Amino acid sequence: MHEFQLRPVSGGLGVVVEGLDLSSELPDDAMSSLRGALAEHGVIFFRDQQLSETDHVRFAERWGSIDVNRFFKAVDGFPQIAEVRKEPEQKSNIGGGWHADHSYDEAPAMGSILYAREVPESGGDTLFANMAAAYEALSDGLKETLSRLRAVHSSRHVFGKRDSYYAKSDSDDRIGNADAATQDVVHPVVLRHPDSGARVLYVNPGFTTHFEGWTKEESAPLLSTLYRHATRPEFTCRFRWREGSIAFWDNRSTWHYAVNDYPGQRRVMHRITVAGVPLS
Ligand code: SIN
Repeated sequence: MHEFQLRPVSGGLGVVVEGLDLSSELPDDAMSSLRGALAEHGVIFFRDQQLSETDHVRFAERWGSIDVNRFFKAVDGFPQIAEVRKEPEQKSNIGGGWHADHSYDEAPAMGSILYAREVPESGGDTLFANMAAAYEALSDGLKETLSRLRAVHSSRHVFGKRDSYYAKSDSDDRIGNADAATQDVVHPVVLRHPDSGARVLYVNPGFTTHFEGWTKEESAPLLSTLYRHATRPEFTCRFRWREGSIAFWDNRSTWHYAVNDYPGQRRVMHRITVAGVPLS
């Protein structure tokens, strides 16, 4: 049995996994314990890892096939790895608002593995929020209403050609392929999580545009109430990066938010998204 320890980072979600070197091939029993930890805690963190790009890809492939992001610029020579970079002179960061990666896809990425290569001296933390805990704390009445709703998710207003968030930002060297931001998708508002079986709230401020059959105006008040509720401090944690840290989060049960508070400093992260299944 491959021993490692889990240290919670908050009461809301997230554990640091201690005692594993991810550059070496992990035995199956360790992988199965890590799967359990990810399903239970929503995000697992690792410190002081020294991974080549090939190690990063190999670790990701232990979890499933890689879901290549079509909008992020890739790391040279590694189309599977998206670069999440901000230069000292750039204003916008990538992921600077609450969202769940790829919720605009029919089969959203199950998880994202973010590896810190260069971090600012201060700032640049990432926040996470637990959508199982947020769902659980809702009233029975609202749970009942939400169980009958489905919501539309889109990439158009974020990655699209016209007036989208990134089209208006200084991110041309980091985000592209706007022509691919064409499809919308509908997912249930409450999911049965494919691994843990827990019910989770599956809307997010980044990509959810409205409830199916409702207008955007009609949807906005209820969505705002859910977003305010879901980001209550007790459902969240905050991760302070060091070079060599990894955060691996489940995109079905968590949101994340990259804090943009390090002007004049550089931050370079490598992200791999692992493929998921269609949601029901
Ligand atoms: C992301 O949204 O995937 C990036 C998160 C981060 O850079 O902290």
